[in-house]
Amino acid sequence: MNTADFEFLASILKQRSGLVLAPEKAYLLESRLMPVARKFGFAGLPELIVTVRKERPEELLRDITEAMTTNESLFFRDMKPFDQFRNLVVPKLVESRQSTRRIRIWSAAASSGQEPYSIAIILMEMQSLLAGWDVEITATDISVEMLNRARSGLYTQFEVQRGLPIATLVKYFKQVGEKWRLDAGVRSMVKFKEFNLLDDPAALGRFDIVFCRNVLIYFDQQTKAEVLARIAKAMPGDGVLYLGGAETVLGITDRFVPITGHRGMYGIAGGEPALKSA
Ligand SMILES: C[S@@+](CC[C@H](N)C(=O)[O-])C[C@H]1O[C@@H](n2cnc3c(N)ncnc32)[C@H](O)[C@@H]1O
Repeated sequence: MNTADFEFLASILKQRSGLVLAPEKAYLLESRLMPVARKFGFAGLPELIVTVRKERPEELLRDITEAMTTNESLFFRDMKPFDQFRNLVVPKLVESRQSTRRIRIWSAAASSGQEPYSIAIILMEMQSLLAGWDVEITATDISVEMLNRARSGLYTQFEVQRGLPIATLVKYFKQVGEKWRLDAGVRSMVKFKEFNLLDDPAALGRFDIVFCRNVLIYFDQQTKAEVLARIAKAMPGDGVLYLGGAETVLGITDRFVPITGHRGMYGIAGGEPALKSA
């Protein structure tokens, strides 16, 4: 692919999703867009690019963007954030939300569902503490294909082997042919919606806890700062934000502060401390 075509496609991707594609990743464009070219009946990428330049068909642009997202995910990814969620964050919210008995959680780059379903499984296990509570899990992603996969609750043997304790697998999944289907009760706890992190999340409502993990790494500094500022506006002063292990707010925004001793967890700057520092 020549430089002009690379730059053209990279700029479309950045504009539509915030994803930044470095020139050394040009090979990714080629390998991931070939199936899109075939799906739309083009002989190859040059023909696809000509059509995008001339007509900018929305359906094609959407598929190009989706094809360029990295959707890698696993259940209970990195484990520790989920332990902290179970042992510290939820009990603390149960104390502080006694008057409303309502907790809202947002998985903001939910991919194929492993993250919101890990949250749902934890909450299912905490049923006795949460009896009579209204707990909502909203899971969003830019990729409609991923959201459909997530809604199906179907996972391969490989996917359930990554991160899921065997006891959890046995308790909450049923084998269906070569795949495993998550229990309907757990699935019904998560509401999936298409949402682009470049947009204003105000219509989604306010969230006590936000998981925005392993997506900011694909954005440039300015986009990260803008996304984080919008998320901060959607959270109360004692809200908790989870980022991925390779992500931070430091040097990017002053809307969040790290919660000392709890790696990957951030509180609202100037808000009430969500948790005591460890
Ligand atoms: C690597 S996955 C992370 C999944 C999960 N949060 C985790 O940590 O395992 C990144 C997800 O971000 C989504 N994504 C990328 N750009 C996005 C955007 N602008 N708005 C919403 N989701 C986006 C991708 O579609 C992909 O599913």
